[in-house]
Amino acid sequence: MVEPLLRPVREGDLEACAALEAACFDAAEAASKERIARRIAAWPEGFLVLEHEGHIIGQLNAAACREPDLARESLKDMVEHDPAGETLVIFSLAVDPAWRGRGCARMLLERFVERAREQGRRRILLLCRETLVPFYRRFGFHDRGPSASTHGGSSWREMELELDPP
Ligand SMILES: CC(C)(COP(=O)(O)OP(=O)(O)OC[C@H]1O[C@@H](n2cnc3c(N)ncnc32)[C@H](O)[C@@H]1OP(=O)(O)O)[C@@H](O)C(=O)NCCC(=O)NCCS
Repeated sequence: MVEPLLRPVREGDLEACAALEAACFDAAEAASKERIARRIAAWPEGFLVLEHEGHIIGQLNAAACREPDLARESLKDMVEHDPAGETLVIFSLAVDPAWRGRGCARMLLERFVERAREQGRRRILLLCRETLVPFYRRFGFHDRGPSASTHGGSSWREMELELDPP
């Protein structure tokens, strides 16, 4: 089998990325196509995709920020994105249901963390549902507790991965 290719997003991936987001999250939770487009335009280096035979089967997108408040909904629109920010915020990690359980999320996350370390970032933050706390713990994240965010009408945990200084 051909291994999926891990690469930064391109503008032409918008439709496929929006479709994957919609397939992986509840409607209230999924980022809109407009939001995805903003993320691609603002920081393509922080938006990784996994491609297999021309199809996007996984994606991870993020912003770099100075002092992000994860509960602020506008954060997700890249309004606080600053390429020099020491804190990276992951907004979405999604793998096509047909490809789950084969290490795709691991590939995306590990590459993202590796890059973050190379760039001398200080930490990576994200919001996740309680059920995914064990998943992120596998990658070294710790649970900072409940978030004030009510994104999509749900409750969220704040997860943090502290990165060693370079
Ligand atoms: C969560 C998600 C990204 C995992 O993708 P995946 O490609 O199946 O994950 P991987 O195969 O890379 O798994 C990596 C590791 O996490 C473990 N894992 C996977 N899903 C898990 C879960 N729900 N809970 C706990 N551990 C989990 C795997 O067993 C694997 O462990 P190992 O490497 O030690 O064997 C995928 O299920 C998904 O897209 N879900 C819907 C969207 C979503 O909720 N994203 C997270 C947003 S916060």
